[in-house]
Amino acid sequence: MHPLLKSRAAAVLGRLGVVALLVVTAGTLHASASSAKGAARIDRDVFGHLADGTTVYRYTLTNGHGMRVRIITYGGIIQTVEVPDRRGHPANVTLGFDNLDDYVANNSPYFGALIGRYGNRIANGRFTLDGVTYQLPINNDPNSLHGGTVGFDKHVWDATPVHGRDTVGVKLRLVSPDGDQGYPGTLTAEVTYTLTASNGIRIDYRATTDKATVVNLTNHAYWNLAGEGTGDINDHLLYLNAKRYTPVDSTLIPTGAIDPVAGTPFDFTKPTAIGKRIRESHQQLIFGHGYDHNFVLNRKTAHKLELAARVTEARSGRVLSIYTEEPGIQFYSGNFLDATLVGTSGKMYRQGDGFALETQHFPDSPNHPNFPSTVLRPGQVYQTTTIYQFSTTH
Ligand code: GLA
Repeated sequence: MHPLLKSRAAAVLGRLGVVALLVVTAGTLHASASSAKGAARIDRDVFGHLADGTTVYRYTLTNGHGMRVRIITYGGIIQTVEVPDRRGHPANVTLGFDNLDDYVANNSPYFGALIGRYGNRIANGRFTLDGVTYQLPINNDPNSLHGGTVGFDKHVWDATPVHGRDTVGVKLRLVSPDGDQGYPGTLTAEVTYTLTASNGIRIDYRATTDKATVVNLTNHAYWNLAGEGTGDINDHLLYLNAKRYTPVDSTLIPTGAIDPVAGTPFDFTKPTAIGKRIRESHQQLIFGHGYDHNFVLNRKTAHKLELAARVTEARSGRVLSIYTEEPGIQFYSGNFLDATLVGTSGKMYRQGDGFALETQHFPDSPNHPNFPSTVLRPGQVYQTTTIYQFSTTH
C-alpha cells in the first residue's frame, strides 16, 4: 500500500484504538491489526491447485506473540502451528505436509483437517432417524469413518479473513447438499479459526440444516509439542478431565457401555506419560492398537467451555490445554502412522509420532440412545467451540 494511504488509514482506524490495514492485490492478501500488545496479521498465498484447477489458498495468521498458524482452504486443514518453547524458540507442533498433492493423495491420517459431517465412526455406516434408515459409505470396513469417502476434509471451503481487536482469523464455509455421503438435509457449515493474543487457537463451529440430520464436527490435528518430526510422543504428560470412557468392539465402535477409567490404562485423571501403559495387554488397547477412544468429559455445565485435556512436554516446556463445549474427546495416539508418509519438515512419521485430541460427541451416537444426541433439526443451530491454548512451564 502507498505509504500515504497507509498512514491515513492508520490515522482513521487508530482513533478506534485498533490499527487495521487491508490490501488485496491480484492473488495475494495482507491484512494486519495491531494493538498496544503487538502486531497481528493475516497473509494469504496460493497453496496449490487441485486436478480440476481449483485454487487452494493458505491463510497465515500471526499474532505478534510468537505464534503463527497456517490454514489451507482444502479440508480447512491446520497445516502448521508454530509455538514458542519456554525460552521463546518456536517450533511447528502439528503434523502435516508441505504441499497440497500430499494432502490430496494421503487422506487417511486426516492431518489437521476439519471432520464432517460426522466425526469418528458410525456402525455399518447405518442409522435411523425419524423412522428412515440412511446408508453411508463404508470407508473403514465395516463402518463409516469421519463423514464418509468424501468428507468435509476433502472439500475446498470458501474463506473470509476475520479481524478482531487483537485477534486474527479465517471464517470457512461449506454447503453440503442433501444426500451428500448419504446424510439427509442440506447442511450449511461454518468454521471460524481465530488466533488469539494469548496464544490460543479458537475454533467456532456452526451448522444449520433444512431436514433432520445428524452432525458431529471436529478437527483432527495431531500434536507433538517437542516439534513435528522430532520423534514419538510417549513422554508427553497427558491429563484428561474424564473419569469415564466409552469402550469399543474390535471395529472401534462403542459397545454402549460407559465405564470408569479408574484402575485401567485409561486413567489420565492425573498427568501421566502417554507411553507409560500403552503396551499393557488390556483388551481395549489391543483393539485400538494403542489409544483410540472417546473419553466422557467431567462437566460442571452442560454447554460452556471447560478444560478437557492438558498435555505437557517437559524438555520444551510447551503446554497444550484444550477447552471445549463438547461432551467427549477422542484420544488417538497416532497408532496408524506407519512410516509411509513424510511430513512438513521432511521427516518420516512412525507410529506414535503425534497424538490427536478430537473434541466431539461420542462415536456412533445415532445408534446409541443413551449417548448425548447429535440430531440437528431445521430451525436449530448447531454451535460449538473448542480452544487449543498454548503456554509454557517455567
Ligand atoms: C480417528 C479414528 C482413528 C483413525 C484416525 C485417523 O482418530 O478414531 O481410528 O481413523 O482418526 O487415522
